[in-house]
Amino acid sequence: MKALILAGGFATRLRPLSCARPKTLFPIVNKPLLQWIFEGLAENGVTEAILAVNALTQFHIRNQKPPKCGLKVRFSIDPPKKPLGTGGPIKKAQKLLGRKEPFIVLNGDIFADIDYKKLIETHNKNGAIATMALCCVKDPCSFGVVELQGDTIKRFVEKPPKGQEPSNLINAGAYVLSPEIFDYISKGKACSIEREVFPQLVKAGKLVGCRINGLWMDIGKPQEYLQANKTVLDTIGSTLEKPKPDGFKVSHPVAFDKGICIGEKSLIGPYAIIGKNVKIGKNVTISNSVIFPDVEISDGAIIEGAIVGEGVQVGKNAKLEKGCIVGDQSKIRDNVNLNENMSVCPAKEIA
Ligand code: GDD
Ligand code: MG
Repeated sequence: MKALILAGGFATRLRPLSCARPKTLFPIVNKPLLQWIFEGLAENGVTEAILAVNALTQFHIRNQKPPKCGLKVRFSIDPPKKPLGTGGPIKKAQKLLGRKEPFIVLNGDIFADIDYKKLIETHNKNGAIATMALCCVKDPCSFGVVELQGDTIKRFVEKPPKGQEPSNLINAGAYVLSPEIFDYISKGKACSIEREVFPQLVKAGKLVGCRINGLWMDIGKPQEYLQANKTVLDTIGSTLEKPKPDGFKVSHPVAFDKGICIGEKSLIGPYAIIGKNVKIGKNVTISNSVIFPDVEISDGAIIEGAIVGEGVQVGKNAKLEKGCIVGDQSKIRDNVNLNENMSVCPAKEIA
């Protein structure tokens, strides 16, 4: 079976971190989101993944080379300066997907434990054109929301006004689609599958839903991204290799990638996710934070509840408070205090 991964969006809500990388390459506990997605697909018998991206995202993926987990990986690229939305890329990949059998389509920006086999079974059993994975959330208004009757979706509304949601069941961003779907999308044009195609399928009684019970997270905003890392760390923390503290202290759960150095009397954790080759000085405190690779943190710095981009330098006794996000390659000078929720653009120097 083949899967198409939609990953050509611009992730504007994750700036400044998304200035330098597409959302699908954001690390979740030190592993790119795309790698988690590949693993989930491979475990469910998918053999080929097609990445529907723009040219810049393709460049980043080729550059970073996340492990393919045994999948054959191909690219289908949106035309220059003409993003195709969430439906157009499906039509564009028609030849690669083929018309022989159903295929999976999924949003490349969700972290989810999806039982694709169950999704496929539900699809076949109901003779649907599209079967949507559904999950239950507290506040559904920023998603696609459905009204479900048995297995059939009777209504689909994309991002309804608050208070007017038909239920708490939302589109989890993963579908099984039959090749007839190609007949609902025009060639070479931008199209929103949610706004333009799903309502037509509802009318035809061909849109089916399938609830998923596993973990599901959207990493649309920085705080959701941080929370996703913490939740995954809670789930897999016990399976990770335990660091051997040598002069510094660790408060679990933590995740350490390779090549990390930590100075004496530093306190790391709880919920400190430290990327590859990060250098941490003495008396440093880090908790509830994600530190991207190649960051250098000087003596006495305090980082609590922050996201620190790749290659950032944090000066002596600097303090990064809750909600701070530091763009890649920035330099925070000695004694600088970044107050709550401050954002620093990439490559800036803050004195
Ligand atoms: N190739 C390509 N071209 N991909 C795109 C484009 C495009 O022009 N626009 C968006 N995408 C990709 C994004 O990268 C993302 O992975 C996916 O399509 C969904 O787009 P988002 O912009 O992230 O949509 P959303 O989060 O507001 O809403 C969607 O996801 C929710 C679940 O997280 C909808 O499908 C909702 O119905 C759903 O509930
Ligand atoms: Mg999204």
